[in-house]
This record gives sequence, structure tokens and C-alpha cells, in this order.
Amino acid sequence: MRQSHEKCGTRFSVPQRVLTGIKPTGAPHVGNLLGAIRPALRLADEGLEALYFIADYHALTTVHPPDHKPEELRHMTYEVAATWLAMGLDPERVMFYRQSDVPEVFELAWVLSCFTSKGWMNKAHAYKDAIAKKAAAGETDPDAGINIGVYTYPVLMAADILAFDTDLVPVGKDQVQHIEIARDIAQRINSAYGGKEVLKLPKPKLEENAAIVPGTDGRKMSKSYDNTVPLFAQPKQMKKAINQIVTDSRPPEEPKEPEGTIFEIFKAIASPEEIEALAARYRAGIGWGDAKKALLDRLELEVGEARAKYDALMADTKQIDALLMTGAEKARKVARATLDRVRSATGIGR
Ligand code: TRP
Repeated sequence: MRQSHEKCGTRFSVPQRVLTGIKPTGAPHVGNLLGAIRPALRLADEGLEALYFIADYHALTTVHPPDHKPEELRHMTYEVAATWLAMGLDPERVMFYRQSDVPEVFELAWVLSCFTSKGWMNKAHAYKDAIAKKAAAGETDPDAGINIGVYTYPVLMAADILAFDTDLVPVGKDQVQHIEIARDIAQRINSAYGGKEVLKLPKPKLEENAAIVPGTDGRKMSKSYDNTVPLFAQPKQMKKAINQIVTDSRPPEEPKEPEGTIFEIFKAIASPEEIEALAARYRAGIGWGDAKKALLDRLELEVGEARAKYDALMADTKQIDALLMTGAEKARKVARATLDRVRSATGIGR
């Protein structure tokens, strides 16, 4: 996808820049693969300039003592990095880095916060959800246990995006509000400084045909529901997760419509022919044990090879560090240029 910049007075066309952040808050699962990882890797393959990073400082808003040890956060960061690399992210083609390795983002976040209305943060979903949960639990002080990091989460996210002159941000629906906040902040800064394009306005990119994968309890697969099928668990654990999928008590021989959680997960990863073959087995009558086995085998086919790569990376985290640092060096150059522009426009520094 190419975008013409004729309007900006140049005749060059530049590739669109896509950027997205992955919060390291748990082991990546099958839902992440289909909803986020695969679509993002596809965009990079289609020739867009991609920046994908691990939002470790965003995770710190919740992943900290007393509930979490520092090693957990570090480990989850490696898990996310190893997962994306094992699934085929090419670090030569994608700028792949840790958010915390790009200090320019945090300096920019401060500038952005000076143009962010407090009222916008009051309306941000993450914060609203957090206080709604407290209220439901009978807490009368709405701010009890809420840190400023959670409250200003969208400002840091705006910095993640705006630091790189991002065009498109592939995200799920729940994140669209955050992109809108990033646009609002950028617009406010641009108009404050004479309507110049100090910051580029990003757009959300919703993955229209991203599969919504059900979890083991039938609701959307999500860490927060504790219903995930982990991607790179050892085969035994994988089997355990699949066995947890809730089924009914119909006997094996009873013909069944090809639907329900097992079938839906299978459908999200398999080819049309494979799907049709399993559907035929459902209609002929299939026992839930056999259906689960079919899913397990298909999953193994999908991730077996990648798991070997993942395990090798996790056994050598220095290699992950080196790759992420190289990515951060490239990313810092881009962010530095934006920050220089912002400092110059705002009257900061010489
Ligand atoms: N808030 C995002 C999430 O929870 C993660 C994230 C952080 C992000 N910074 C970002 C996503 C920048 C896109 C762009 O999923």
C-alpha cells in the first residue's frame, strides 16, 4: 500500500507506517495468534513499514508488587518477544523493540500530557472500567487503589504512536478510543503551534476479518476470563486446556451440527477442506473426546515447529535481548527526529 505525499509538496510516495504495541501481561494464546499476531505479520509482508513493540512500561501499571514479582514482568516480556519471532516476525523487516528501550517515548509522553485535558482521561475506558469494578465491589472511594499510570495510560500510548509519525495502528475495538485520544492530543498540539504538522495524525486499523476465537468456556478467548489455550505450552498442558472446553452430554453417535467451541477454534486455524472434513464427522456423529483430539492434532500441526523455535529462544534470552536492542536503535532514530521537532516547536531547549 503506497500513499502519495503530493499534498505535502513532495512527489515521493512513501510506504504507510504501521505500529502496534503488545502488552506483556501473560503467556500468548491462540486468540492472540489469530486476532493480532497473524494479521500484523501479514501487514508487514504486504510492504507496509512496520514497528511492533513490547509495551513493558504499560504492563508495569498493573504487573507489579505485591501481586507480581519483577522477574515475572521480565519473563512475560521474553515470552511475547519469542512468540512473535517464532511465528515468523523478521526483525530485519520489522522494527521490533521494547518500549522501555526507547526513552524518547517517555520524554514525548510528558509533552503530550501538557496538552491532555484531565477530562479526557476521566472518560478513558481502562480507568472507567477500573472504577466501575471498585464500585461493584462496594468500594466508596472511586480512586482507591488506582495509580496515575493507569489513569494516564492513554497519554503514554499516544506517545508510543506519535513518536514514530505512525499512519495506521492495528488494534482491537477496545483500543480505538485510545487512538482517538492520540489524534486529539496531536491535533491540539498542531493547532497550538500555528497549525503546522508537528505531529502526524494516526488512524486505527480494525482487522475486519480477524477471527474472534472462543475460549474454553465459550466466551471470547481472553486472559481476563482465564479461558485461554496457550500457544506454546508443552503438549501435555495443551491437552489439559483443550480438555477443559465445556461440552454437553450428547452421546458420541448422535449426529451434531458443526458448531460450538471446539469447532470454532478448529475453524479459525484450519483450511476449508479440513473444516469440511471435520464438519462431516460432526454430522455423522462424533464423540467429544474425538473432536477434542482432532483440534489438538490440528493445533500441534499449526505450532509444533514454531514451538521448537520458541523454546530455543527462551533458552537463550540474550539472543532476544540482542534482537530487541537492534530494533530499539533503529526506532530511537525515528523517535529522536520527532522529539527534536516537538522541542523546537514548543520552545524547549536551545
Ligand atoms: N494498550 C494496548 C493494549 O492493551 C497496548 C499498547 C500500548 C498499544 N501502546 C500501544 C497498542 C500503541 C497500539 C499502539 O492492547
